[in-house]
Amino acid sequence: MGLFTNMMPFATVSLEGAALLRVRALTVTYSTRNRQSAPALRRVSFDIAPGEILGILGESGSGKSTLALAILGLLPANCSVEGTILFQDEDLLQMDESRWREIRGAKISMIFQEPGLSLSPVMRVGDQIAEIIRAHRPGNGKTRKLECEAVLRGVRLSEVDRIYRAYPHQLSGGELHRVAIAQALACRPDLVIADESTRSLDVTVQAEVLNLLREINRKRGSALIFITHNPALLAGFADRVMVMYAGGIVEQGPTAQVFSRPLHPYTKGLLQLIPRSRNGTNLTSEGRLPVIPGSLPALNPSSRGCLFEPRCSVRTAHCQNESPGEVTPERGRRVSCFNYGN
Ligand SMILES: Nc1ncnc2c1ncn2[C@@H]1O[C@H](COP(=O)(O)OP(=O)(O)O)[C@@H](O)[C@H]1O
Ligand code: SF4
Ligand SMILES: [Mg+2]
Repeated sequence: MGLFTNMMPFATVSLEGAALLRVRALTVTYSTRNRQSAPALRRVSFDIAPGEILGILGESGSGKSTLALAILGLLPANCSVEGTILFQDEDLLQMDESRWREIRGAKISMIFQEPGLSLSPVMRVGDQIAEIIRAHRPGNGKTRKLECEAVLRGVRLSEVDRIYRAYPHQLSGGELHRVAIAQALACRPDLVIADESTRSLDVTVQAEVLNLLREINRKRGSALIFITHNPALLAGFADRVMVMYAGGIVEQGPTAQVFSRPLHPYTKGLLQLIPRSRNGTNLTSEGRLPVIPGSLPALNPSSRGCLFEPRCSVRTAHCQNESPGEVTPERGRRVSCFNYGN
């Protein structure tokens, strides 16, 4: 899928009503070998409206998975967390494990990086989905089987009988991915998080999966956080995009606006590096996504200036000494840069 080839008009998603998820000043710091390292997330704040598709974009190490794990209450024990994550007005960071068991899988669910790994290799696929439904909803074996078949049909799997009875190793990559989506959607959650879930799929299957996710999102109204390092996947797919760098949000806004007129130098760099290829791949001749010169900084907890400064082509002396705050240059858009737009 080329970057600008699948642009299409968006159904407008308003953030002015009640937000489904409200993240405020979320800071997560992992500590390793009794040492506090720099925060993996630094004062991250954003909202998601019900039914919205939010794309989270950033290179490896920018904190995307940490954010997903925080929203799912799955952060490891070796980290400290500050801030609030309000989901339907309930603070997820204050919830105990029994409340989490009611919410996870039922109201907030996840499609993991390697969807095959979220399935047990020794259980039939249908039984695994039925098990999720059983854990969260009343009903008997027969109604559950019917529900499960409906979920499988809902992700456009045609041979439902075969899939229901199959073990994961008997399915193709595309089928497994659809099963993982079915698993995440089985209880009709209000929020689904997909963390680089389409990464291992080939381009054609990837496009099919994105179409499916968007179709389900529009039909059911469940919100989706779609995490990727590849901007090309978000064009024509995500309503809004949030660009992360070194644990912070550097820019957020409606995808069509951000992609046609990026304000932050990092976003500009990410988008410029993607060739508008005809064959729909966006890969370099070595088969890799192009990258912006330089790398994520070795984060120093006490660093003062803008974290993108060493790689920034429009930096000024000021940028070394002070960290830019977030401004709202236009309605619906936010950016953290002293020289945005340059
Ligand atoms: N379990 C962990 N323990 C210590 N550091 C971690 C752990 N998980 C992630 N990190 C660090 O947090 C930062 C953000 O990582 P991550 O959230 O995985 O980013 P992304 O998903 O964008 O690649 C990185 O510096 C990474 O090394
Ligand atoms: S604040 Fe300065 S260094 Fe940081 S992105 Fe903007 S111009 Fe570049
Ligand atoms: Mg990740």
